[in-house]
Amino acid sequence: MRRALDRRPLRRCALGHALRSVILLAVVLFLGVVTARPSEILDVDIPNLSHEQHGVPGKAVHGEYEALDAFGNWYEVKYIADEKGFRTL
Ligand SMILES: *[C@@H]1O[C@H](CO)[C@@H](O)[C@H](O)[C@H]1NC(C)=O
Repeated sequence: MRRALDRRPLRRCALGHALRSVILLAVVLFLGVVTARPSEILDVDIPNLSHEQHGVPGKAVHGEYEALDAFGNWYEVKYIADEKGFRTL
């Protein structure tokens, strides 16, 4: 019982280092993702309809939506909306 207690600080220290490394890695990965991709504005995914949008609201956004019509056809629309207006791609 006593031995187990004596070993605890060492283990906690090693765990602390591992945890710190994992947190650091997570922060680096998060920053990488945030700087690499424009911010997400919208991400809707409901039956028969999905819509994703990224960018800066009011400035420039781009996205795509997919929808299923009454005849069972899927439609996919990719678009961009910026200072030149709204247009599909
Ligand atoms: C999704 O589409 C299918 C096929 O058109 C339809 O039967 C179903 O009711 C739709 N679901 C919703 C939630 O609209």
